[in-house]
Amino acid sequence: MQIQFFLLFLLFTKTISLTSTTDTLPQGSSLSVEKPNDILISSNGHYSAGFIQVGDNAFCFSVYFTKSKQPTVVWMANRDQPVNGKNSKLSLFNNGNLILTDAERKRTPIWSISTFSTFPLQLQLQNNGNLVLETLQKTEKSTNVTIIWQSFDFPTDTLLPGQELTEHSSLVSSKSKTNFSSGFYKLYFDNDNALRLLFKGPLLASVYWPSPWKLPIDMGRSTYNATKIALLDSFGHFTSSDKYQFHTTDYPNKFHRLLKMDHDGNLRVYSFNEKMKTWEVTWQATQEPCEVHGICGENSMCSYDHVIGRTCFCLKGYKLKNPHDWSQGCEPEFKPADLSCNRGVSFGFLRLQNTEFFGYDLNVTKVTSLKQCQDLCLGLCERCKGFQFKFNRESTYDCFTKTLLVNGRDSHNIDGDVFLKLPKNTLLSSTMPLKHLPLNCSIALSQPLNRLYEKPSKNSTLSFLVWFALGFGVFEITMIFIVWFFLFRTNKNNDNVDQVQRHLLSATGFQKFSYSELKTATKGFTKEIGRGGGGIVYKGILDDDRVAAVKCLNEAHQGEAEFLAEISTIGMLNHMNLIDMWGYCVEGKHRILVYEYMEHGSLAENLCSNSLDWNKRFNVAVGTAKGLAYLHEECLEWVLHCDVKPHNILLDTKFQPKVADFGLSKLLNRDDRDSSVFSRIRGTRGYMAPEWVYNLKITSKVDVYSYGIVLLEMVSGKSPMEIHSLDNSGGIEHHRMVTWVMEKVKNAPTTMFWIEEIVDGNLEGKYDVNQVENLVKVALKCVKDDMNERPSMSQVVEMLL
Ligand SMILES: *[C@@H]1O[C@H](CO)[C@@H](O)[C@H](O)[C@H]1NC(C)=O
Ligand SMILES: *[C@@H]1O[C@H](CO)[C@@H](O)[C@H](O)[C@H]1NC(C)=O
Ligand SMILES: *[C@@H]1O[C@H](CO)[C@@H](O)[C@H](O)[C@H]1NC(C)=O
Ligand SMILES: *[C@@H]1O[C@H](CO)[C@@H](O)[C@H](O)[C@H]1NC(C)=O
Ligand SMILES: *[C@@H]1O[C@H](CO)[C@@H](O)[C@H](O)[C@H]1NC(C)=O
Repeated sequence: MQIQFFLLFLLFTKTISLTSTTDTLPQGSSLSVEKPNDILISSNGHYSAGFIQVGDNAFCFSVYFTKSKQPTVVWMANRDQPVNGKNSKLSLFNNGNLILTDAERKRTPIWSISTFSTFPLQLQLQNNGNLVLETLQKTEKSTNVTIIWQSFDFPTDTLLPGQELTEHSSLVSSKSKTNFSSGFYKLYFDNDNALRLLFKGPLLASVYWPSPWKLPIDMGRSTYNATKIALLDSFGHFTSSDKYQFHTTDYPNKFHRLLKMDHDGNLRVYSFNEKMKTWEVTWQATQEPCEVHGICGENSMCSYDHVIGRTCFCLKGYKLKNPHDWSQGCEPEFKPADLSCNRGVSFGFLRLQNTEFFGYDLNVTKVTSLKQCQDLCLGLCERCKGFQFKFNRESTYDCFTKTLLVNGRDSHNIDGDVFLKLPKNTLLSSTMPLKHLPLNCSIALSQPLNRLYEKPSKNSTLSFLVWFALGFGVFEITMIFIVWFFLFRTNKNNDNVDQVQRHLLSATGFQKFSYSELKTATKGFTKEIGRGGGGIVYKGILDDDRVAAVKCLNEAHQGEAEFLAEISTIGMLNHMNLIDMWGYCVEGKHRILVYEYMEHGSLAENLCSNSLDWNKRFNVAVGTAKGLAYLHEECLEWVLHCDVKPHNILLDTKFQPKVADFGLSKLLNRDDRDSSVFSRIRGTRGYMAPEWVYNLKITSKVDVYSYGIVLLEMVSGKSPMEIHSLDNSGGIEHHRMVTWVMEKVKNAPTTMFWIEEIVDGNLEGKYDVNQVENLVKVALKCVKDDMNERPSMSQVVEMLL
């Protein structure tokens, strides 16, 4: 009895807490960080408000979406000042103020909204995720409810449907995927009423979206409407008062959605996939990750490659300042004073093609020759680090002399070169070539938050308690200790690794299998059904009787977290012409993927056994193109396959094709990716685009090339390997399959003539001539040596239909 009484007493000395699930917090009550049940739940159950752990003993009061596998935070009260895991609470005072207090700093609140009201009031979490503080004025007839504060007016990095972005609000990205505190990127209404994305670093700041080169009016924006309101609706339509608007790729379906200023500087719309319980990207502001400013610091350049991802590298003559933080950029290897004019050093210029550095122009001058621009830069002495040189419409050149080299990037879409000014001896020294040096590129590595709980030293409640307890005797004191100890322990159990783990799992929408489960399913990995560069595939039957293809990856030296991160991207993809991934297993060395099983095996086997008539072949061509087009464009994730070949195109019971093994290029051989030119090569001889061999930039056009070869193979029935060995040349640069077909087409007197020469004899003349002609023409476009001349996969789909 005594113990029970005591525990009850313990509870009551704190402010009265909530007991049952509710969407409202009444006046004079509070939500405590220590009680998992102290949360508000919206009446439809979609959103909750409560404390979320953001680090070791660090909590933020948040509103989060609860239907996803792991909670999705949509708003935070105190993102930059997390509170302790003990004694912290959010209280709604009788005078109308809402205050968040921390154990360490009882007197000064961590966060408060400074409202005041003499009317009765309550805090309510609404069904749309808005947390509102409202006064309730009772009149004779009804209750007048007035909102005096709402979380929708103070967004963090997320805008929900129906929530307005206004003159007074902005979206600020978080630091990193795991660190929720304010980062460097911001969506806001500028002074000229246009909606913009801004990079605001510790030293530099600049707007990068919409393109800073263009005037708002040229981008269809209006700068005259001073209203400043932007809004996303549940159907995927976004409108802004500056006349900017867009539709998401899944418009006009009604989904849970959110517009998020992501930590990587891109603005994205996510739609909630009810089946997978995950968020999928359905729109993003920029398709070029390097357009975001502040990725790589001064004197370095950002480069994007589909295989390696976004990377930074130092310009020639410069070396990295801090290997852990690329945003600090690179510093000169030569003495900076050498750039001045009175040192007698002679200079040269290094040309960087298709490159730009944004901002910090000393002067823009029209010149008629490169020499003139070089002289301008030399004349400016140490103030000019290089210049941007661009042809302009009036048949002269624009010369932008640069005092700082920041926001550098290279891209085929940039017309204009940069000339880097360097002392002659630096210029002539043979240091590394510029291209493809994948280096660490993370802006801010997340560090554990060292906010350990300190026992409140002079806490009046506690000391009173202790005196009180003494009165009851030693036994009770022991009990308190046990209670305290228990609370303390349970709170400390969640360490950071766990956080990261859960975060990653939340992003993946499928099942995690244990190794033993898969061992049982595949009868000890006995029924081998395929073997490729990536690993061995076994047939298996899962617990729920689904037949699966179980792929054990070899040579996957990746860490678990990295592996899960890649898998989460693959798992988001969902298309009828892509193989469905059901799950994965990561245990020790094992990296295993579980896919749906395809009755009819691969296109390669089917071509070999001659089981495909022309109709089926044509369907496979169209379906495969659709699957690849989705990978490249529609899902906005820009996944490259990098190994398109008949062995990776599987056929279901109705002979519909499904592309397999996409996304694997990132999972395999990760650690030797950067060591040499050759390890960069992915794919299979005979199907590989010339870019791999010449070490050019890898874009989605490598898949287009391989697809073209597959088309030629389907039409002719001849494998490109076969033709290779016939000619015995072995060179990839001169693709025999392509030259063979091209010569036939060129030398034939009529279309009918070359078609008969090329088409697979196994078809016995049963084919649609127009379709064959179209297919071969498309294929020949796909296998052009110059990747810029190849169509995109979605253009291929259009041409085929
Ligand atoms: C409700 O309260 C607001 C502000 O307190 C007041 O302006 C409004 O007239 C009231 N409405 C009704 C119907 O009483
Ligand atoms: C300004 O923008 C608001 C919100 O988009 C719109 O309702 C209003 O009609 C606009 N005003 C003008 C003059 O275009
Ligand atoms: C730009 O540089 C040229 C050449 O030094 C000079 O004549 C001109 O006045 C400068 N313009 C500005 C705006 O500083
Ligand atoms: C990247 O960072 C890791 C860890 O900080 C370090 O071990 C590695 O050497 C770095 N790589 C390069 C190329 O700087
Ligand atoms: C998040 O980043 C901020 C600023 O860099 C840092 O102070 C804080 O410790 C980080 N928090 C976590 C949980 O890593």
